[in-house]
Amino acid sequence: MTDTTSNKMWGGRFAAGPDAIMEAINASIGFDKRMAAQDIAGSRAHAAMLAATGIIDGSDAKAIEEGLLTILSEIEGGTFQFSTALEDIHMNVEARLSEIIGAPAGRLHTGRSRNDQVATDFKLWVRDQLDAAETGLVALMQALLGQAEAGADWVMPGFTHLQTAQPVTWGHHMMAYVEMFGRDLSRVRDARVRMNESPLGAAALAGTSFPVDREMTAQALGFDRPAANSLDAVSDRDFALEFLSCASISAMHLSRFAEELVIWSSAQFRFVALSDRFSTGSSIMPQKKNPDAAELIRAKVGRIFGANTALMMVMKGLPLTYSKDMQEDKEQVFDAADNWMLALAAMEGMVRDMTANRDSLASAAGSGFSTATDLADWLVRVLGLPFREAHHITGALVGMAESQGCDLPDLTLAQMQSEHAGITADVFTVLGVENSVNSRVSYGGTAPANVRAQVARWKDILG
Ligand code: ARG
Repeated sequence: MTDTTSNKMWGGRFAAGPDAIMEAINASIGFDKRMAAQDIAGSRAHAAMLAATGIIDGSDAKAIEEGLLTILSEIEGGTFQFSTALEDIHMNVEARLSEIIGAPAGRLHTGRSRNDQVATDFKLWVRDQLDAAETGLVALMQALLGQAEAGADWVMPGFTHLQTAQPVTWGHHMMAYVEMFGRDLSRVRDARVRMNESPLGAAALAGTSFPVDREMTAQALGFDRPAANSLDAVSDRDFALEFLSCASISAMHLSRFAEELVIWSSAQFRFVALSDRFSTGSSIMPQKKNPDAAELIRAKVGRIFGANTALMMVMKGLPLTYSKDMQEDKEQVFDAADNWMLALAAMEGMVRDMTANRDSLASAAGSGFSTATDLADWLVRVLGLPFREAHHITGALVGMAESQGCDLPDLTLAQMQSEHAGITADVFTVLGVENSVNSRVSYGGTAPANVRAQVARWKDILG
C-alpha cells in the first residue's frame, strides 16, 4: 500500500509519500538490519563526541545514549518493529529513538549524514567478518597441521596433470594447503590494517562546519584514525571489495581442496574416508556415501566470486561521491561472508574427521613409475651421465616395464643393463618410494624431516 504521508526523516519538501514500487526498490531495511549493532555503536560514539565538543548538551547526549541502549536490547530481543517505510537501519533506529526519548533524538544527526554513517557501519561490519575469517582460517590450519603431523612420513603419489608424477608425503600435501590458507590469513590481516580508517564525520561529502572531533569517534570505534578526505570517505567501498577479493581467493583454495577430497574419497582412489558427520547417503543407492560438503564448498566459490564481480561492476562507473547504487554493496558482501565462513567451518570439520587410508596411499605411491626421476637422478649422480641422457635411458626402461606389465623395481639388473651397461644393483636402493621421499631434503621438499620442521614452524606462528 502506498503511504500518502511524506517521509518523516527527510520529507520536508515532499507533498506525497512514495509509490509502493518506489518503496520496494529503495528500501534496504530487509537486509541492512544486520548492521543494527554497528549502527548503534556508531551513533553512541557520535553522540558522546557531540557532547564532549559542546555541540549538544550533555543531558541530550545522555538521553540519546540510554535510548540507543534500549533500542539495542529491543533488536537483540526480537521485539523491534522494522519499518520498510523508514527505508534503512539508520532511519529505523533514529525514528525509534525519537519515539522513546522525544526531542533530543533530533539532535543526534548533527554534523553527520547517512553517507558517512553507512560507510562507518558497513566498515565495522566487514571488520568483524575479517576477524571471523581469521578465526576460521586458523582453525582450519590447525586441523591440517594435525593431519600433517600424523602422516608426515606416509607416502602417496604426487600429481601433475592428475597423472602420477613423484612420490610425496601426506604431510607435505596437507602442508601445501597450510601455506595457501596462511596466505589467505595474511591477506585478511593486511586488509584489516588498510581499512581501519573512520569515515564518521565526513558527513554528506564535504565535511561539516560543526567542530566535530573525528579522532575521538575514530578511537571510540576502534579505528586507527579518521579517513583524511571526506569525499573519499563516503564514496569508498574498497574495504568491501578487498574483503570479497580475500574471500574469493580463499574460496578458490577451499574449492581446490574440496575437489581433491571428492576425488580421493571415490571408490577408485580410496585415499581418504570422510566421516559420516560430513557425508550424505543416497535415497536410492544404499551403498553410497557422498561427499556433499566438499561439493558444496567447491561450488561456493561461484557465488563468492560472483559477489566480488557484482560489486566491482556496481562501483566502476560511479562518479564521486555517494550514489544509491552503493546500497547494492551489502547483500553481496553479506552473502559472501556467510558462505565463506560456512565453507571454512565445513572444511575444518571434514579435515578433522577424515581418515587417510595409509595403505591405499602407499600402494598408489608405488604405481605409475613414480620413481622414474629417482632412477634418472641415480644415473646422473653415480654414473656421471648428463641429465638428458639419463632421462632418455630411464624412459626406455619405463617403456620396458610397461610392456611387461610390471613396475620399475621389478625389472632385473640384466634388463637394466641392456639400456646402460654401467648400471649396478645399487640402483634398486633408489627405486623404493620411501627412499624417494626421504631423499627430497631440499628446502621445501617432501622429505618427512622437512614436513615435521614445517609443522613446527607453523605451530609456532599460529601459537
Ligand atoms: N541505505 C543507504 C545505503 O545503504 C544509506 C545511505 C543513504 N544515503 C543517501 N544519501 N540516500 O547506501
